[in-house]
Amino acid sequence: MAITAKANTDVLMTAPLVNPAGRLLVIGGGYTGLRLARAARQRGMVVQLTSREPRQSAEGLAWLPFNSASEHPFLPPRQALNGTTDVVVSVPPEAGLGDPVLRLLGPLLKELPLQWVGYLSTTGVYGDTGGAWVDESGATAPRPGRSQARLEAEQAWLASGLPVQLFRLPAIYGPGRSPFEALASGRSRLIHKPGQVFSRVHVDDIVGCLLHCQALSPERRPPVVNVVDDCPCPSSETLGYAAHLLDHKLPPMERYDTIAAAMSPMARSFWAENRRASNGLLRNTLGYALRYPSYREGYRACLAEERAAAGEPARVEAPGGGGQSPRSPGSAT
Ligand SMILES: NC(=O)c1ccc[n+]([C@@H]2O[C@H](COP(=O)([O-])OP(=O)(O)OC[C@H]3O[C@@H](n4cnc5c(N)ncnc54)[C@H](OP(=O)(O)O)[C@@H]3O)[C@@H](O)[C@H]2O)c1
Repeated sequence: MAITAKANTDVLMTAPLVNPAGRLLVIGGGYTGLRLARAARQRGMVVQLTSREPRQSAEGLAWLPFNSASEHPFLPPRQALNGTTDVVVSVPPEAGLGDPVLRLLGPLLKELPLQWVGYLSTTGVYGDTGGAWVDESGATAPRPGRSQARLEAEQAWLASGLPVQLFRLPAIYGPGRSPFEALASGRSRLIHKPGQVFSRVHVDDIVGCLLHCQALSPERRPPVVNVVDDCPCPSSETLGYAAHLLDHKLPPMERYDTIAAAMSPMARSFWAENRRASNGLLRNTLGYALRYPSYREGYRACLAEERAAAGEPARVEAPGGGGQSPRSPGSAT
């Protein structure tokens, strides 16, 4: 299935209106950044976003160059950023080099009339909780390497003097980043590790949460927000539901302990952490209603959007099913 995800951002128009005169700069117009940019543009903001590659401005979005990763980094022209009121940072830190955005653009950002800076981080900063729930007040215990670099980036942003809010994200899924293509092409693996769960979030709930928090008054914005759905659960459960939706058979079950040694270090580090990230602050205190409280609603929407993007006729998706997962203790329902 060829997937060219086109944002179905109309649905996000129902959220409260942000300052329509605002000028948003998305630093890192990747998967989440572009989806956010499209939604903000639809809501009347002037939106610019950055890429390492030259890109044609389209859909009312203006692309600017930004690449930190060379001896001669290139930066967006100062003039293009005049009047920017809101910034979202979606560029990961570089281990040993700190946060590239703060290092290269920090002084420039401080000259702008910024009202809000959203920094996209990861729930990886909590480290392994042995499957226990963790909220924003929980201790951070990142693994060395990427997660440690991320915690240092968070701290640097909070100390920057800019009006920063940190958003801690779990595994992101959405149209074009769903299990369906791998399942259909036989590349999925069904791995079982007893007691292991993962948290996840649909990309449109990241977008919705960012727009929601941007619209809050500054005193109502907590410095750190987990952006996760209600249902941390095993990956075998989510793959089972995806197979059910596709009416496709599952690959054979593999036991984690028999395949771990052959996995990449990145994959092993992913499986080494077991935690349930809580969204109580986002849902109960900040009043954000998740569009996709679990992978079940999220996967159905992904499949519909992927099929629409591939020009396939719309079908009625299977009703909710799949396994039951414990809901977040912070869940509103
Ligand atoms: N994916 C996940 O499951 C997940 C989970 C937790 C947290 N996060 C974090 O959440 C954020 C958004 O995730 P995502 O999956 O939407 O990210 P993504 O698609 O990988 O986008 C990352 C963006 O950062 C830009 N970028 C990367 N290195 C750069 C550099 N050296 N200089 C300038 N720009 C650079 C990329 O530029 P190009 O557009 O030119 O490639 C891209 O626009 C990221 O910080 C990610 O690390 C992701």
